[in-house]
Amino acid sequence: MVNKRVLSGMQPSGRLHIGNFTGALQNWVKLQDKYECFYFIADWHALTSQYADTSRIKENVKDMLVNWLAAGLDPDKATIFLQSHIPEHAELHILLSMVTPLGWLERVPSYKEKQIELKDKDLNTYGFLGYPVLQSADILIYRANYVPVGVDQMPHLELTREICRRFNHFYGGIFPEPEGLLTEFPKVTGIDGRKMSKTYDNCVYLSDSSKDVEQKIKTMVTDPQRIKRSDPGDPELSPVFQLHKIFSTKEQQAEVAEGCKSAKIGCLDCKSILIKNLFEMLEPLWEKRKYFLDQPEIVEEIVITGNKKAQKAAIETIEPVRKAINLWK
Ligand code: TRP
Repeated sequence: MVNKRVLSGMQPSGRLHIGNFTGALQNWVKLQDKYECFYFIADWHALTSQYADTSRIKENVKDMLVNWLAAGLDPDKATIFLQSHIPEHAELHILLSMVTPLGWLERVPSYKEKQIELKDKDLNTYGFLGYPVLQSADILIYRANYVPVGVDQMPHLELTREICRRFNHFYGGIFPEPEGLLTEFPKVTGIDGRKMSKTYDNCVYLSDSSKDVEQKIKTMVTDPQRIKRSDPGDPELSPVFQLHKIFSTKEQQAEVAEGCKSAKIGCLDCKSILIKNLFEMLEPLWEKRKYFLDQPEIVEEIVITGNKKAQKAAIETIEPVRKAINLWK
């Protein structure tokens, strides 16, 4: 165990798909054996875009927790908790907001991008502009050394480092500068050939049944130029082959590529191999999902314990911060 802290979070924005699993989650699971890890659900962050209708958040939080545990996050190794249960995040957020220049926030790329992407929502709010300040508080309150995130979150991490330096400059070096651990993983292709994303509704979800998974893969398009079974195909043009690249062995990839090019195998044969591999990967996860879904009290207990551990660590930071700000006593 290396004496460094890792922290990461996810917004409870809906069901997790197999891309989230092979991307973020499997990496988090690996890290918990090596570092002191804190993983939390950013339910306050969900409010920044869902404030007008909060009805789905609670359910999404529960489902996310079940998926995390099913994917192998282990409460004996990592601290698993809910952001909104640790008010110290909010206290640090307000203090960080005092030293954060507006210009820094306005030039965070996600600020404009999300407003365009979610244009049916009014994101012209103080809370939404402050999204990355809250994220900075999430990280700094645990004095995290490493923050595993995807490339889309790197600007937020850069901003966290800038806020960290500015805060340290005013009030003394309280926070270590956190480093991003860029999680490099191949983008998972969705069942329509575009990037797998909830927004496109083209995902294989961890909560899908085996029937759903089979159905989704079977109806995928393949090489659009391979019309008849006897036509030779080009695997590179087939989104199914893109999924083979992630979920199948090198030998299987070679085998289906060769079978496709020579028309020795049909598209359904190729898909069956992929389906079998997905089942092998997902079956243990489905079993654990069922275990935790059947016993929500176990999940609740894990979070209550995690919240306590997280809060203890957060208090260890907020106390010296309060002292350094020097408002009282
Ligand atoms: N913004 C992150 C996302 O959408 C979630 C998040 C909130 C986060 N606070 C964090 C990630 C702190 C890492 C560290 O994925």
